[in-house]
Amino acid sequence: MSPETQIKKIIIVGATSGIGRKMAELYAAAGNIVGITGRRKKLLDEIENMFPGKIKTECFDVTGNENIERLNSLIQKIGGLDILVYSSGIGVLSKEVDWEIDKLTVDTNVYGFIEITNWAFNYFSRQGHGSMAVISSIGANRGNSWVPAYSASKAFQSNYFEALAIKAKRIKKDIGIICIEPGFVDTKMVEGYKRFWVVPLDKAAKQIIAGIEKKKQKVYVSKRWWLIARLMRLAPFWLYKKFG
Ligand SMILES: NC(=O)c1ccc[n+]([C@@H]2O[C@H](COP(=O)([O-])OP(=O)(O)OC[C@H]3O[C@@H](n4cnc5c(N)ncnc54)[C@H](OP(=O)(O)O)[C@@H]3O)[C@@H](O)[C@H]2O)c1
Repeated sequence: MSPETQIKKIIIVGATSGIGRKMAELYAAAGNIVGITGRRKKLLDEIENMFPGKIKTECFDVTGNENIERLNSLIQKIGGLDILVYSSGIGVLSKEVDWEIDKLTVDTNVYGFIEITNWAFNYFSRQGHGSMAVISSIGANRGNSWVPAYSASKAFQSNYFEALAIKAKRIKKDIGIICIEPGFVDTKMVEGYKRFWVVPLDKAAKQIIAGIEKKKQKVYVSKRWWLIARLMRLAPFWLYKKFG
């Protein structure tokens, strides 16, 4: 890391695997101090041991009642907070309209998400600076019959972040509110999906980190999904229903 690059204190919620884990590894390798969370303690310990002194952990389930307490504890461990990333999420293919899948999706992608990012927004407002990012999805742009609750939950995340981005400007706070909408990234989550234009994990994590650095309001991974998002939104229902 060059001397002019400031060491940042970063929390990634949902970093035991996939996009969150790769981001944590890249941030720590660049010299930042990173707090990571997830339910799988063994994986948290494994990642902490890979980067002694650079990575600290808190093991908790975002659908539980301890989110804020555990995040405050993690802030103590890493000595502050500059960036918070919400990467915890589930996306289960839903052949039937399955209540268990829908409930777990909403608990994780909506309730866990809003409790943590609402708190982060107020934390950064009091602090006077900071950035927060969510790994939403291109699926946020329209309802998807293969993953109904997932696409609805991602629309919730993207709209909430758009609203917070406007609010931050209106109250004149220097808070970056970054909404990431990936297409397909090569992680376990999308193994059962019919996938195309799959972005390698390392490339996706680097694009996301660059977007956060530039405080972009919206980041498509990869960039070509910007056009797909536009087309999805423009398509009339009679056409969209053939794909969605
Ligand atoms: N991969 C893609 O193509 C793709 C595309 C668009 C958007 N996304 C989004 O990217 C995010 C990360 O997904 P990924 O692909 O990296 O999948 P992943 O490898 O399955 O990562 C999901 C992360 O979320 C954590 N998590 C899940 N449920 C949790 C809970 N109840 N409490 C705490 N942590 C929980 C997991 O940790 P534990 O299991 O240890 O709790 C894990 O670290 C998700 O929000 C997903 O919707 C992914």
